Amino acid sequence: MKTAITEMFGIEHPIIQGGMHYVGFAELAAAVSNAGGLGIITGLTQRTPELLAKEIARCRDMTDKPFGVNLTFLPTFSAPPYPEYIAAIREGGIKAVETAGRSPEQYMPALKAGGIKVIHKCTSVRHSLKAEQIGCDAVSVDGFECGGHPGEDDMPNMILLPRAAEELKIPFVASGGMADARSLVAALAMGAAGMNMGTRFIATKEAPVHENVKNALVKASELDTRLVMRGLRNTERVLNNKGVEHLLEIEREKGKQLKIEDIHDQVAGVYPKVMIDGDMDAGAWSCGMVAGLIHDIPTVKELIDRIMVDAERIIRQLLTGFLDGAEQRTVAVRAIA
Ligand SMILES: Cc1cc2nc3c(=O)[nH]c(=O)nc-3n(C[C@H](O)[C@H](O)[C@H](O)COP(=O)(O)O)c2cc1C
Repeated sequence: MKTAITEMFGIEHPIIQGGMHYVGFAELAAAVSNAGGLGIITGLTQRTPELLAKEIARCRDMTDKPFGVNLTFLPTFSAPPYPEYIAAIREGGIKAVETAGRSPEQYMPALKAGGIKVIHKCTSVRHSLKAEQIGCDAVSVDGFECGGHPGEDDMPNMILLPRAAEELKIPFVASGGMADARSLVAALAMGAAGMNMGTRFIATKEAPVHENVKNALVKASELDTRLVMRGLRNTERVLNNKGVEHLLEIEREKGKQLKIEDIHDQVAGVYPKVMIDGDMDAGAWSCGMVAGLIHDIPTVKELIDRIMVDAERIIRQLLTGFLDGAEQRTVAVRAIA
């Protein structure tokens, strides 16, 4: 399949693996790129720019296909040394960077001077337009369904994607709630040039996380995520667990007085406990509603091949079947699930 996104990033399939803290290591990024998508290493999971340089080199050993790096600009006073991270990215020969969080505006000259294509993750049309205006090459439009930070507008992708298509000149991928061929075809129909998946890629053989995490995703339904930190205007969609229930209790008790210190134990240092130790009650870790659509733990290649084969079937048989007046369409879509 050829879209503006496959052409921009030099990939075979219009599927991107979003940056994921303590998940987006070289193993997963290489597996996604080897399967024809765009794998992404999560920059800040590497505690220093030197470690990121090593992770990029490790990924380079595992694939000769293009892969990218995620740089998340955090709303924090003690900012990580972003210029040094960007230097490591440039020196590592990376040509695709997924930015997220705050606007990447001040870092655009350094990224562009490295010949890097920048795809910024946005949860609203206005932020997407701003990204376009500051010179981003593409946008990852992240709907309310998404795992991680959906913003504060609560806009689901059924509305957000066509609105983005109405306003944007640069290409965009659909992000949030994407799991399979149905997601991809729907995203294309709404004007996207591909899709970005986070949660779905965690439940794959190559994702370098504890088996408990993968099994929890298979077990979870679409009802099992919760929104935390709403009161702090730093909303995050996470998988429910005992730590999250405790966090929500504190949020209810404190109400408008809630401060980040009150929930420190439930949100800080949780990722290694979950992803490495498999402690599924440790606290808040990002997870999308799409958990309800995850029923197995395939290899990344099996997942991506299945998406592309089924997408072609949906487009060529099912959708044209509607035009031709053929029967059996609902059955066909269910079979693809
Ligand atoms: C466990 C996990 C960790 C994540 N960490 C980050 C991160 O560090 N930076 C970032 O920009 N996005 C992060 N995300 C968001 C993903 O890149 C992606 O935008 C999101 O998962 C898309 O929604 P989906 O989970 O429904 O596919 C994370 C998502 C998950 C599930």
